[in-house]
Amino acid sequence: MKFFVDTAEVDQIAELNDLGMVDGVTTNPSLIMKSGRDILEVTKEIADMVDGPVSAEVVATDADAMIAEGRKLAKIADNIAVKVPLTWAGLKACNVLTNEGNMVNVTLCFSANQALLAAKAGATFISPFIGRLDDINLDGMELISDIRQIYDNYGYETQILAASIRTVNHAYQSAMIGADVMTAPPKVIKQMAEHVLTDKGLDAFLKDWEKTGQQIL
Ligand code: G3P
Repeated sequence: MKFFVDTAEVDQIAELNDLGMVDGVTTNPSLIMKSGRDILEVTKEIADMVDGPVSAEVVATDADAMIAEGRKLAKIADNIAVKVPLTWAGLKACNVLTNEGNMVNVTLCFSANQALLAAKAGATFISPFIGRLDDINLDGMELISDIRQIYDNYGYETQILAASIRTVNHAYQSAMIGADVMTAPPKVIKQMAEHVLTDKGLDAFLKDWEKTGQQIL
């Protein structure tokens, strides 16, 4: 499973990247706002640091303007994936930008039918938002599972990028279902290392070790 980091905070991406945990990065207008950085500058910095796809999102709402913005974002670096919303205009922009040889990430996906349309429009990635479905008492994981089945039924190559991941359980379930990629905030990726029995076991080992009076170095 590929791990993308869902943030525009360069330091946090660098920390995980140094551990080999980063296969790509996703950003969106809200994350750019939180970073306080200029979109072109921060996206370039991230794209230079990370080997894999770095998603940068358009903000226009009509297809022609999305395409123009997408072309500009794609020029930032070779590893930019242009992110477009799952609207009819976004699907049109996806098709044009894909045919021009760009990676396209279709975002704000909340139904299997939307995901089917994105695959037909040639999307490189489809981003179903798990947490936001859970927020309204729907089942985000069921959507990941439905899209997996539909894409496998017909051999679509669009990669399922499980997004709006808020918990380690979302990450685990996405991996179990077979999402190709998950994008998660750095905090969630770090939390995946945590287990109460690991802490307890380590504590016991260290206490016993102290009793031996030995040192390794
Ligand atoms: O990957 C999309 C993500 O940034 C949205 O997450 O937590 O705002 O729903 P969230």
